[in-house]
Amino acid sequence: MAYGADGHPVSIRYHPPPMTLKKIAIVPGDGIGPEVIAAGMTILERVKEARKLDLEFVHFNWNADEYLRTGVSMPPGAMDDLRNNYAAIYLGAFGDPRVPDMKHAADILLGMRFQLDLYVNYRPVKLLNDRLTPLKEKGMKDIDFVIFRENTEGAYVGMGGFFRKGTPEEIAVQEDVSTRKGVERIIRHAFEFARKTGRKSVCMSDKSNVMRYGGDLWMRTFEEVAKEYSDIEHFHMFVDALTMQMVRTPELFSVIVTNNMFGDIVTDLGAALQGGLGMAASGNIHPGKVSLFEPIHGSAPKYAGKDVANPIGAILSAGMMLEYLGHPDEADAIEKAVVGAIDADETTHDLGGALGTKAAAEAVLRRLEV
Ligand SMILES: NC(=O)c1ccc[n+]([C@@H]2O[C@H](COP(=O)([O-])OP(=O)(O)OC[C@H]3O[C@@H](n4cnc5c(N)ncnc54)[C@H](O)[C@@H]3O)[C@@H](O)[C@H]2O)c1
Repeated sequence: MAYGADGHPVSIRYHPPPMTLKKIAIVPGDGIGPEVIAAGMTILERVKEARKLDLEFVHFNWNADEYLRTGVSMPPGAMDDLRNNYAAIYLGAFGDPRVPDMKHAADILLGMRFQLDLYVNYRPVKLLNDRLTPLKEKGMKDIDFVIFRENTEGAYVGMGGFFRKGTPEEIAVQEDVSTRKGVERIIRHAFEFARKTGRKSVCMSDKSNVMRYGGDLWMRTFEEVAKEYSDIEHFHMFVDALTMQMVRTPELFSVIVTNNMFGDIVTDLGAALQGGLGMAASGNIHPGKVSLFEPIHGSAPKYAGKDVANPIGAILSAGMMLEYLGHPDEADAIEKAVVGAIDADETTHDLGGALGTKAAAEAVLRRLEV
């Protein structure tokens, strides 16, 4: 079990999918995706062998190359197959300059989030070594919180349109959708998580001073759900203030819950506090159902194929996936091995080390006690 700075266990202790589901879909994607997923697979294969885990890794080459070759981003029936026959998805990143409209990425990654109803975006922001944070006089004791981003609604549903497109009078409308069901389930999830993991507070962040309707729904729902969790402190912060306080006083936060777009933005800030985009892991979760685990970084095309990408975000995402599947001790062992490699400075350049992707993953593997 992993423990936070406050001494409380940080296992997410989700209700895992049924144990009859053994298959894990491996989807490396584009750019640096294949390299960081290969690194994560060395860890997963070792854990599987050592702990005799009954898991079957199934590899899929859904990516820009395939899309450009065939015009198909995901074969028909693939989403249903994932929904019905898989316990989890382990994914790299999508994005390729040859597909400027990001069609395949939208079909695959956003397709999975929306069609598999992965409404919880789980983003731990945990500093693993004091020297990695850019914040002066802040350290591991200060930076250890969790962000829950609503993952299926908001501005990302793609509702809207153009009027008089391409003319000087052009109008573009992009809707920001919040439903009572969607808002309530992510807020409830944040409180449940806080209670189960012994975290002291939940902060809800929005822009309800300006976005009156959606914000009003978020505020009312937050106050109503909070009444059921009187053991957990709750407070509200406008998202502009949140970004400032995450930098000035990160120790203020324990659990943060916010909408899809604000979550997208503040989780990158969270990654910066942890040491950079290469450090951050995430889960796209529907408790009890097939869920997706991925490093938060993108495909970083300029680094693709160069053996320079930091594999830690992908490795920690593999650990998070094992935790979700009911193996928290294995996840804990992976995090310990990562911390050991960082402490010994056996890391990639972005963390100040001198290793390539493969060697940095080997440094973790050597320390893995399973
Ligand atoms: N989940 C996803 O698949 C996802 C997420 C974000 C961006 N993208 C896509 O990725 C492509 C590139 O986007 P971007 O440049 O804005 O974001 P990015 O995360 O790919 O890269 C931004 C910068 O962060 C650093 N970085 C990222 N990952 C790193 C790693 N593992 N190790 C070391 N440094 C790392 C690099 O300096 C990189 O240039 C775009 O097509 C974008 O749409 C995909």
